[in-house]
Amino acid sequence: MDREEIVKCTEEFVRDEMGEDPAHDWWHVKRVTDLAIEIGKEEGADLFIVRLAALLHDLEDWKYNDGRTGSERARRWLKDLGVEDRIVSKISHIIENVSFEGAGAESDIGTKEGKVVQDADRLDSLGAIGIARCFSYAGSQGRKIHDPGEPPENHETFEEYRESETTTINHFYEKLLLLKDRINTDTARGMAEERHEFMEKFLERFYDEWDGTR
Ligand code: NI
Repeated sequence: MDREEIVKCTEEFVRDEMGEDPAHDWWHVKRVTDLAIEIGKEEGADLFIVRLAALLHDLEDWKYNDGRTGSERARRWLKDLGVEDRIVSKISHIIENVSFEGAGAESDIGTKEGKVVQDADRLDSLGAIGIARCFSYAGSQGRKIHDPGEPPENHETFEEYRESETTTINHFYEKLLLLKDRINTDTARGMAEERHEFMEKFLERFYDEWDGTR
């Protein structure tokens, strides 16, 4: 199987495997993969690794699987397709390290390809798409949209955040607005800044409408 066929085949596999959760469905994977290709081209990354890692990055999302990542499954899948060991281990390292685990977590994703995929995944949490995904996820957890009596908190880990039952608007301050400063590559940084500004405008307007002043 040549590289193009391996990517195509993996795309079909992931499309079948992704669940219904609107914030982490196939379309999230597709957007992240498209972003990762754009960023990867600019950054001179190995696009074969970037595409496969992006496609496989949320195979089993740790938020819904008690901390398990999909890296073991991804590794088996790639080995079965005959992908070289060196590349397989690079990809599974990326999958294990791509997720943001809270305000206090420093990640060391290592390779250029990892930085690209992590940036693409973070960009999908920002901007208009980020807002849509945030409300979708919070809604599925039955969280309030906003409560002026509940200020944002500083959660060190995703576990703390999950148990905090924080409001949806608080999630912007506790996670989304922190992402811009955690972008790895120059290419993604520009995009992240624009998406960040859009979210700040959204919040400004949100509070105006909340107070009935606009
Ligand atoms: Ni993701």
